Amino acid sequence: MKSRICGTGSMLPNRVVTNDDLSKIMDTSDEWIRSRTGICSRHLAVEESLTELAAQASRKALEEAGVKPEELDMILAATLSADKLLPCLSCELQRELGAVNAVAFDINAACSGFMFALQTADMYIKSGQCQRILVVGGEILSKLMDWNDRSTCVLFGDGAGAAVVRADEEYGILSSVQGSDGAKGDALLCEGRRNNNPYVSNSTDLPYVSMNGQEVYKFAVRTVPKAILEALQKADLTVEDVDLFVLHQANIRIIESVSKRLKVPMEKFPSNLEECGNISAGSVPILLDYVNQRGMLHKGDKIVLAGFGAGLTWGASVLTW
Ligand code: COA
Repeated sequence: MKSRICGTGSMLPNRVVTNDDLSKIMDTSDEWIRSRTGICSRHLAVEESLTELAAQASRKALEEAGVKPEELDMILAATLSADKLLPCLSCELQRELGAVNAVAFDINAACSGFMFALQTADMYIKSGQCQRILVVGGEILSKLMDWNDRSTCVLFGDGAGAAVVRADEEYGILSSVQGSDGAKGDALLCEGRRNNNPYVSNSTDLPYVSMNGQEVYKFAVRTVPKAILEALQKADLTVEDVDLFVLHQANIRIIESVSKRLKVPMEKFPSNLEECGNISAGSVPILLDYVNQRGMLHKGDKIVLAGFGAGLTWGASVLTW
């Protein structure tokens, strides 16, 4: 049995913030951001909650899949920026969608989150325990940014993407690879709430994302091609067999480096980095929906999905569309 993606959806916040907009509120420039990352603008949530964005993305995915919310066995949401610590985003989505028969829980693997959620869904489907699973990745990262740290805040954006996965005899996920290296966790970090009880003298500082950009860059360009090649080998395929590589959108230079290392032309690496920036767990499902809605995916195509990020974590899957 395979796990087939049979519907996708995405939703971005209304507010578009360009590099020029940012250069009015901090010491940066369109030239610096564009040339170092490929990012020109990003969507930032002003009015929207993550639950609203994820619910709208999910409704679109369910509609394309022809699956009713009550037919879902499971909802898996990947996020590091849920609206609430409790309940989790998946349970909020269950309520919003009326998915009364689903079991719902979140997965946090940062920018690899959607890959890990999709691979978890695959295992539930392969084991026969589930038939139809909604997999969501989304973030409102802008609330975790230090807007005085120009080296980090310009890179990220907000949004959510969703995919409906169902059991299928023929099409779907062929192989997956996942990994983590907790020893390098400090390279991309956001502290949680501090200990707070009557016996602790606490600081009121809010924790924000901090990053060693060059460390993360080196990790990504080394690990992603390796993970993709491993996943392809498991599926008995080569890079030449792949029609499209849907990669986590962190930096166009990382994608160019992967394309060079795999000796695959950049045309096979679609990107929405220009308009979206890095949406962490939302990045892969939003790009997948982008290529799906533009008719770039055809039945039987071989697709590679790959993510990487904080943890450090990484994951890649090969599937037949
Ligand atoms: N605008 C203008 N200047 C900036 C800036 C900004 N937004 N951010 C940093 N700078 C400055 C730095 O202060 C530094 O100045 P200095 O040389 O006077 O000290 C200079 O630009 C160079 O910074 P550096 O860090 O060497 O740039 P870089 O070429 O390594 O690019 C990143 C920085 C963050 C774009 C790059 O390291 C990267 O993309 N890393 C991967 C990050 C990533 O993808 N993370 C998410 C993974 S899921």
